[in-house]
Amino acid sequence: MIKVSGCISEIKSQIKEWKRQGLSIGLVPTMGYLHEGHQSLIERAVKENDRVVVSIFVNPIQFAPGEDLESYPRDIKKDTVLCEQTGAHLIFNPTPEEMYPNGFSTNVTMNGLTKELCGKTRPTHFGGVCTVVSKLFNITAPDRAYFGEKDAQQLAIIKRMVKDLNFDLEIVGCPIVREKDGLAKSSRNTYLNATERKAALILSKAISLGKEMVKNGERSSAAVIKAMTEKIETEPLAKIDYVNIVNAENIEPVDTISGSILAAIAVYIGKTRLIDNFMITV
Ligand code: PAF
Repeated sequence: MIKVSGCISEIKSQIKEWKRQGLSIGLVPTMGYLHEGHQSLIERAVKENDRVVVSIFVNPIQFAPGEDLESYPRDIKKDTVLCEQTGAHLIFNPTPEEMYPNGFSTNVTMNGLTKELCGKTRPTHFGGVCTVVSKLFNITAPDRAYFGEKDAQQLAIIKRMVKDLNFDLEIVGCPIVREKDGLAKSSRNTYLNATERKAALILSKAISLGKEMVKNGERSSAAVIKAMTEKIETEPLAKIDYVNIVNAENIEPVDTISGSILAAIAVYIGKTRLIDNFMITV
């Protein structure tokens, strides 16, 4: 049976024991309600490490007031089954009080990389992510940690943080997992009703269009952004938060597509905010 613990000291002693035995550790940080996207991260971690820890924690400090902290879907029983079947060894499922006890006063903030894309509409989000991920790294001392490329800005930020703060681990980015019809897997897809679910396909259609344009030689960001924007605007239920093209490493907007770029979109379908992207090196 996979072990589930919400207790930091218990997790730390298990990690210490594994380290004493010379075992390597992979960490898959999640907010739970696991789907095939998370499963692909766990599978990769199981392949590359002796022991795999999955953290399941809906981190309150990365949600702004009015966002979906309370309604964020949770199902620890189902998550436990998925983790066990996928070969993980330990689930860390702390309470907010365990992670942020009375008197908690320290935050990790990042100045660069957080101003564009999701950082524009969610200015406090990435500080909350950096803080919790730093804590998770310190608690589980992993050799490798696995993050999905769907949250491409988050992945770039965590890579930067690991470099800047000299964390001693490797960050592994894993490809976006999509539904058969193209919609990127997300725990937030459960918010969509049947009509919205169909409308949400406009995100992956815009992504495919942009990617094709770049593959076919288009090098003007403005032209690609315009075409993607117009595509999304054909869907009446869609409201654009952003469509942008940035340097994949420093998340600064680029006028000309060259090197490694990230084309990212955030679109409201009804009340649900969805993100998608493509990364390409030209
Ligand atoms: O990507 C997520 O699910 C979260 O942002 C993370 C990395 C688990 C931190 O809470």
